Amino acid sequence: MQEGRAITFTSNLPNTFMASEEDSAILEILGGQRLSGHVAISGAKNSALVLMAGALLCPQECRLRNVPSLVDVGRMGEILMALGVKLERQGDCLTLNASSIGESRAPYELVSQLRASFFVIGPLLARLGVARVPLPGGCAIGARPVDLHVRGLQAMGAEVQIDHGMVNAYVRGASKRLKGAKIYLDYPSVGATETLMMAATLADGETIIENAAQEPEVADLANFCRAMGAKIRGAGTNTITISGVPSLHSTDYSIIPDRVEAGTFLVAGAITYSELSLSPVIPDHLTAVIAKLQAVGAQVITEAPNRLRLIPSDRNRATDIETLPYPGFPTDMQAQFMALLALSEGNSVITETVFENRLRHVAELNRMGANIRLKGCNAIIRGVPMLSGAPVVATDLRASAALVLAGLAANGKTTIQGLHHLDRGYEQLEAKLQKLGARLQRVKGSSDAGNNSALET
Ligand code: UD1
Repeated sequence: MQEGRAITFTSNLPNTFMASEEDSAILEILGGQRLSGHVAISGAKNSALVLMAGALLCPQECRLRNVPSLVDVGRMGEILMALGVKLERQGDCLTLNASSIGESRAPYELVSQLRASFFVIGPLLARLGVARVPLPGGCAIGARPVDLHVRGLQAMGAEVQIDHGMVNAYVRGASKRLKGAKIYLDYPSVGATETLMMAATLADGETIIENAAQEPEVADLANFCRAMGAKIRGAGTNTITISGVPSLHSTDYSIIPDRVEAGTFLVAGAITYSELSLSPVIPDHLTAVIAKLQAVGAQVITEAPNRLRLIPSDRNRATDIETLPYPGFPTDMQAQFMALLALSEGNSVITETVFENRLRHVAELNRMGANIRLKGCNAIIRGVPMLSGAPVVATDLRASAALVLAGLAANGKTTIQGLHHLDRGYEQLEAKLQKLGARLQRVKGSSDAGNNSALET
């Protein structure tokens, strides 16, 4: 695994980020190149973040493997260090030692940069009987409340007060132990399922989470907790049963491959009419994405249990997509498919049902010549034969991936600003694309991006 531009944990000192430099950097892409070859898929960001929080449950050292080198992973590491966790990173292996966590308060300035850090509330409460975590607030894709997390913890006996933007949670009584409960989630929230599952691992008695999220990252967290001695059944289905145990123990665990990164590269193949192979992947995690690629006309072949090959069509065609909780089509792949459908023959409709503000890439794709109209949570896409390279701005993580894909397929040069979004979630994206033959590079930003250009059009 290559070392990324993100963080390595070599000491317990807070890491510094290259955020300001990356904020002003620009990605230049010269479109129209055919890609070919093989892509190595990194570990799943959304698993890594929650498993790192899960390590707080364990009073002994835990080792996570296949941890991607990403800005978000670095931020989660800083939050854990602020809570007293010792972290050490070597390559893609992260060692976490939460034996002496004393601090129950997560610092606002760190939590506000990473919504996933709210997850620490579950393990902190389970382990210490007290947790003080700032409300994460909204983010680029919507308001993203935490009411389901809070109500579930209350059902398990936690007292929760929200004061001045801080969620103060504690467990009454000498044992400071949460109690097992039957919890029905109004919506199968991934975050709430993960928070409650972690909290329940050390609770007194049995917890049943009904209408639980079924995402692979939830199952990965359950497998990690089970490797530490937790008793969890049904993760990956809509009913999860957790029998609380008094304590967990050390483990060595490898994170699943990133299904969103894999899906993004499959779309890169389809949109540039290029044959690509990827591994490692878990093809079952990509069922909805593969179905939609096939609807567009591409073939996706399972060459080996952990390896996929994309064979493009002669001409991509329209299809409709609705984002849904897993196993439905993932909201994290919506923007990338928007870029693909913008260049596919016919009319498509994409309906975003999970987040209310996750269609901001439409305006940027239209700047490149796409014909997309927004009506509420629906994007009506009239396929065009060609996009033209243009300066665009990434508005969130997956939107930035969509703009990269559009840039790879477009005529001429695209320049993308707002790369801090991209660096949150794609490990070595430029290097991986360059290896496939794409022409792209990062340059220092300026008011006229072309001045620093080294890519010839
Ligand atoms: C979501 C995605 C997940 C994706 C991640 C990162 C779904 C169901 N979840 O997970 O696959 O990897 O974003 O992009 O697609 N909600 C509440 N109250 C809560 C918690 C959530 O109303 O307490 C709402 C959210 O506002 C949102 C929906 O539930 O509309 C899904 O949220 P949730 O699954 O918790 O989001 P993430 O865990 O971030």
